[in-house]
Amino acid sequence: MPDLVPFSAALRERSSGAHSGSEHAGFMSDLMQGKGTRDDYVALVAQHWFIYEALESAADRMRADPVASVFLSDRLTRIPALEADLEFLIGADWRDRIEPLPTTQRYVDRINAVAATWPGGFVAHHYTRYLGDLSGGQFIGRLMARQFGFETNGIGFYLFADIADPKAFKEYYREQLDAAPWDAAEQERVIDEVLVAYQFNTDLFIDLADAKARRVA
Ligand code: HEM
Repeated sequence: MPDLVPFSAALRERSSGAHSGSEHAGFMSDLMQGKGTRDDYVALVAQHWFIYEALESAADRMRADPVASVFLSDRLTRIPALEADLEFLIGADWRDRIEPLPTTQRYVDRINAVAATWPGGFVAHHYTRYLGDLSGGQFIGRLMARQFGFETNGIGFYLFADIADPKAFKEYYREQLDAAPWDAAEQERVIDEVLVAYQFNTDLFIDLADAKARRVA
C-alpha cells in the first residue's frame, strides 16, 4: 500500500517543533532582530566551519554508498565559501583564531560516529543543514548582508552560486527522501536523528550566547 503521507512531509511535520526551537533560540533571534553584533555573526560562521568540515568529509566517504550518495551534490559544498568568509571576516590567520564550542565538538563527533556506520543517519544530518540553508538560510544571508553592510564577501556561505532555483532543488531532494529504501522503522530512526541534529543547533545557540556573555564581561 502506498504511504498516505510522503516520508518527506512526515519528516517536516514531525520536526517542525524542533525547527521552531532552533529558529527562536535567543542568540539567533537577536541576530535576526538586529540586536546582534558583527562579532556574534563571525562567531556563528566559525562554528559553521567545524560543522561543515565534518559534514563534507563524511559526504566524501559516502560517495560510494548507494543510499546516501543520491543526496550528495557538489553544488551544496560550503567549505570553500566558509573559508573565504572567514578570511574576509577574521583575516588570513583565521584558522588559528577559531575553536569549536562544546556543542560544536559534540555535534561533529556525532556526525562522524553516525556517518561511519549508518547512511540514513548521515542523510538526517545532511538534510537538516542543507535544506535549512536553502530555506531560511537564504533569508538569513540577505538580512546579515543588510545589517553588517556585506555585499557577497562575508555571506558567501548563504550564496549557492550553482543552485539557481533552491525551491526546485529542495523538491528534488524531497523526492529522493521519498524514494529512499527505508522501512517504517528506519524512517523513524532517521526522523529521530533529524531531531538530534536540530537539538545540536539549538544547543549551539545557547553556547554562542554563553560565549558572548564571557566576551563582553
Ligand atoms: C532564524 C532562523 C531560521 C529561519 C528564519 C528559518 C526559516 C525557515 C523557513 C521559512 C523554512 C521553510 C521554507 C520552505 O518551505 O521552503 C525553513 C525550512 C527549513 N529549515 Fe529553517 N529557519 C531558521 C533556522 C533553521 C535552523 C537553525 C535549522 C537547522 C540547522 C533549520 C533547518 C531547516 C530545514 C531542514 C528546513 C526544511 C524543512 C523541509 O522542508 O523539510 N532552520 N526554515
